[in-house]
Amino acid sequence: MSSTSTPARQANFRFRCIACGDGSDAAGQDFRCGHCGDLLEITYPAWKESKPDAAALKSSWRDRKLSSKPADQSGVWRFRDLLPALEKDDQAITLREGNTPLYELPQCARITGVPGLFAKHQGMNPTGSFKDAGMTVAATFARIAGFKWVACASTGNTSASMAAYASRGGMRGLVLVPEGKISWSKLSQALDYGAVTCQLRTDFDGCLKLLQELVKRAPVYQLNSINPFRLEGQKTLALELLEQLDWQVPDHMIVPGGNLGNSSAIGKALLEMLELGLISRLPKLSVIQAEGANALVRTLREAGGKRLISVPAETRATAIRIGNPASWKKAAHVLEATGGACEQVSEVEIAHAKAEIGAEGIGCEPASAVTLAGLKKLLKQGFVKPDESVVLVLTGHLLKDPDFTIDFHRGDMFPQNASLSALRHPPVVLDATLDAVIGTLKQFE
Ligand code: F0G
Repeated sequence: MSSTSTPARQANFRFRCIACGDGSDAAGQDFRCGHCGDLLEITYPAWKESKPDAAALKSSWRDRKLSSKPADQSGVWRFRDLLPALEKDDQAITLREGNTPLYELPQCARITGVPGLFAKHQGMNPTGSFKDAGMTVAATFARIAGFKWVACASTGNTSASMAAYASRGGMRGLVLVPEGKISWSKLSQALDYGAVTCQLRTDFDGCLKLLQELVKRAPVYQLNSINPFRLEGQKTLALELLEQLDWQVPDHMIVPGGNLGNSSAIGKALLEMLELGLISRLPKLSVIQAEGANALVRTLREAGGKRLISVPAETRATAIRIGNPASWKKAAHVLEATGGACEQVSEVEIAHAKAEIGAEGIGCEPASAVTLAGLKKLLKQGFVKPDESVVLVLTGHLLKDPDFTIDFHRGDMFPQNASLSALRHPPVVLDATLDAVIGTLKQFE
């Protein structure tokens, strides 16, 4: 097998190198440009001659919601007109991903002083993270290309998602995760969904490097976000969001940044929506990183976005514990194109914001909470104005990292920090008597 995509005669897409612009109909297993080695993206050449009609697209996406066909029930494949085409809709490996809620955040709105504050909760996907939106597309194309094995390096969520879609699609999954550096709950998903799971004695960046070598030597299909099919699927987050907002464009979208695939995908979607006339202006797309894993922040500030500054990554938000982000160039491009900002937040700020999102009755994993922490910073800087509308992209479910949450509420995390005390809700151990429970009730009145 020499290429990951044997384009069918009717393929509606091509690959294009993001650096030298070289176009091709097929991609090698490393998904890198044959000329300059940079990353590939997917383009739709037919749009040049005849753009899909925006009003017709919106109406057919709405109509599909009423259909019982699996591809129509998927919040990803419902938007298939803007995705690489399948020969038949039933080729899609789908768990009915997407269809994630857009929540108002009344308490966080009060705290930040931004009444128009929303959360697009991608943690409500089938395996609990935004990865499912990309995985359904990339796993489908892996199966179409005839691969028996799919593989990924991961900080946990990609592996959970890939393991699920591999099994649903009748393929084997190989997971490479850094030993001791991902949450048990994510690891347990990969095990349960039946992947071959390798805990490597390295970090995420080490796992990804090894995978890049592996795909050149063995017939495994890589499902990291270097794979441009992943980003096409993840684009649908933005399509679905705009549909939920009745195509009224928010002023800001804020996403966490790790390997930087998701911000790249959302940015690509926004630019394509503008090109096709689905929206008339762009929201500013901002990326927030943990201070201890701030490669993009440093790349933009210290190198003007011209070359990557890698960092040794350390953060308790393990999902974004990444020091050498693969899609940094794509992310830098979409930040510039949409006029977004790039900020970093501290571990305390992450814990604080996570508890505030939890107290909304929603919750998210630590990496997702950087968005709220980042918003507070962007407000202070005047980059976001209180009367503007803001959508935070919550990337993972609260239950993805229970250790973090329990350490926080029990006071084991930042025990000396007074500003966090009011947000902690530690469990109370009592004798099993009515008096004890009533006494506790009074105490918390
Ligand atoms: N939020 C969560 C919950 C994640 O799992 C990730 C990435 C990100 C944000 C960052 O997204 O990498 O596209 O910038 N997790 C990957 C994984 C790397 O392996 O699960 P990104």
